[in-house]
Amino acid sequence: MISEQALEELSFADAPNMITDAIPGPKTGELLGEAPEYESMTRGGGGFPLVFDIGKGVTVKDPDGNLYIDVSAGVGVNSVGRAHPRVIEAMERQSKILMHASDISNTRRGELARKIASIAPPGLKDDCITYFTQSGSGALESAIKFARKVTGRHQIMAFHGAYHGVWAASNALTTGDQYRKGYGPFMGGVIHAPYQYCYRCPFGLKRDGCELACAHYVDHVLNTPYTAADDVAAVIIEPLQGEGGYIPPDPEYLQIIKAACEKHGALFIADEVQAGAGRTGKMWSIEHAGVEPDMMTFGKGMGGDLPMAGLIMRKDLAQQLDDMSQPQTFAANAVSAAVCMTNIDIINEYELVERAAVVGEEVMKRLRTASETIPIIGEVRGRGLMIGIELVKDKETREPADGEMMMNVVMGLLSKGIIMVPCGRNGNVLRLMPSLTITRDYMNKAVDILLDVLNTL
Ligand SMILES: Cc1ncc(COP(=O)(O)O)c(C=O)c1O
Repeated sequence: MISEQALEELSFADAPNMITDAIPGPKTGELLGEAPEYESMTRGGGGFPLVFDIGKGVTVKDPDGNLYIDVSAGVGVNSVGRAHPRVIEAMERQSKILMHASDISNTRRGELARKIASIAPPGLKDDCITYFTQSGSGALESAIKFARKVTGRHQIMAFHGAYHGVWAASNALTTGDQYRKGYGPFMGGVIHAPYQYCYRCPFGLKRDGCELACAHYVDHVLNTPYTAADDVAAVIIEPLQGEGGYIPPDPEYLQIIKAACEKHGALFIADEVQAGAGRTGKMWSIEHAGVEPDMMTFGKGMGGDLPMAGLIMRKDLAQQLDDMSQPQTFAANAVSAAVCMTNIDIINEYELVERAAVVGEEVMKRLRTASETIPIIGEVRGRGLMIGIELVKDKETREPADGEMMMNVVMGLLSKGIIMVPCGRNGNVLRLMPSLTITRDYMNKAVDILLDVLNTL
């Protein structure tokens, strides 16, 4: 496994280091003030009071020179950190010979498709076809279209709390008022079922004794003639729910849903855009459940510093699709493909998947211990380096922390040089999703500051 010292050299030293009296500093403030004049605030970072200027490893500088530890890894993207020297080298090498190739074959995308097949999860490994896109939304959009074609059915089942993108079809699966209200109607034929969220069980049950009613409910919906789920092409699920609150379901939950899919003839599609690429301590989060998906999407951490996303399909399914029926002008740009392969090589050579499991366990243990004395920590959960901390106003009632509390936490962290972004159905879950290359020292510094901020609220 890669040494801590080798990882240390990938980032700026001595982070965090805040040199302005307040944040945003003057230069950052000016840029933030101008942004709404030129750029849409509908973007993910609209309203987040930070401007990135320079990124190195797990550290980032703003235009005023303040140095931060980024515990969000560009929202799960920079799996090997920003500007890894080998990524820069691959980028430089490839950009001198070929960058854009439209959707025509190029040497690097061919190599990448073979590499992806070699790291795919059981059920797809060495026997799958990859379809490339530029974003996670595009991958989900394509998964829906392809599932309909190969099954001849049209309905899609997704889950409460799901986030699968914000395009016409994927937005229909995505839940959450902020992405939906006023923008509909979305694609029809979508059925939402409960995700296994034991901290806030929709049935009011306790895990001890519930027998996974939520999973059996999915089976029930798919198997009776009275639920209007008469034409389901696919069940699309995040094996560890991301934007919905960093919620890891039990393996049996996913196993029961997979069995229901098989019984009913629906495809099981795992969305690994956020939880994939080693983040959870397995290469793919579905591997924790031992379930074999029929299709699987990927994005974020696979591409790292350049956009790369796509869909992996069972070969027999992919072979039923018509040639040239889903073109994408910018798919698998040769430089993005070269960078993605380098990312995968670094993840494997540094043993970052195994490291995510070990370091994640250490961090989770520390946070769980701290949660015993910090009244606003409701629950600590996750797998590997995909850790959610659900904040509450009251441990007993579990009333979610409100917007003001969350703003105080996020700004408290930012002013001390820690970048952490919230998620969750109520926006009250802090997510720890650092680059898999974060040193224990930087991880501990970030947790020290986090506990300090949470203790003073
Ligand atoms: C699970 C999941 N699927 C799909 C997407 C959409 O990806 P993108 O933002 O690249 O379109 C996201 C983004 O957060 C995601 O977390």
